[in-house]
Amino acid sequence: MKPYNVVINFESGTLDPGKRIIRKVSDVKNMFYDTQAAEELIQKGDPMVYEVIYADVPEEQGHLGHCTTIIYPGKIGNEYFLTKGHYHEKLSTAEIYFCLRGQGRLIMESTDGDCEVLEMFPGSASYIPPNWSHRTMNVGKELLVFYCIFPADAGHDYATIEEQGYPKLVVEIDGKVTVIDNPKR
Ligand code: F6R
Ligand code: ZN
Repeated sequence: MKPYNVVINFESGTLDPGKRIIRKVSDVKNMFYDTQAAEELIQKGDPMVYEVIYADVPEEQGHLGHCTTIIYPGKIGNEYFLTKGHYHEKLSTAEIYFCLRGQGRLIMESTDGDCEVLEMFPGSASYIPPNWSHRTMNVGKELLVFYCIFPADAGHDYATIEEQGYPKLVVEIDGKVTVIDNPKR
């Protein structure tokens, strides 16, 4: 293949040319603590929670996958709109999330059971080491847009996070972004 550019719009989060994946509430309902509130939102029109736009790169060792993620502002119950979250299938692979717009949180859990939450803001570049699962939330009132770079053969393991969730939840309490223990863990 030959070198090529994609163009990223920092405001809208579009990456062009790119392949777009859309996640609605019905796609991520099991990731939220308040599944009842998620069901109600699905009945009310099943709004979009986030989009991912991937550059066309072979999913092979040596290549770097890259994409933008756009998370819409919103909550289910008092929990902010979030991504599914995953370990990489190839656990030894790291990733970088570079925030372009908005305010977010990045929650990570290692295979050793450590849990960390980092702030995301325009200019923040978060390093996700090998063996750490990762999920993001939009804690602001506008779009959260970030750019991701990862080994193209990293893969996604969604099942582990869907089953066990994270040790912490990021919720709004009295109008403030608050990290609490997850009662289901
Ligand atoms: C790729 C990666 C990101 C996420 C994206 C959506 O390894 O971490 O590009 O895939 O932010 O999150 P998920 O994949 O958890 O739905
Ligand atoms: Zn990843």
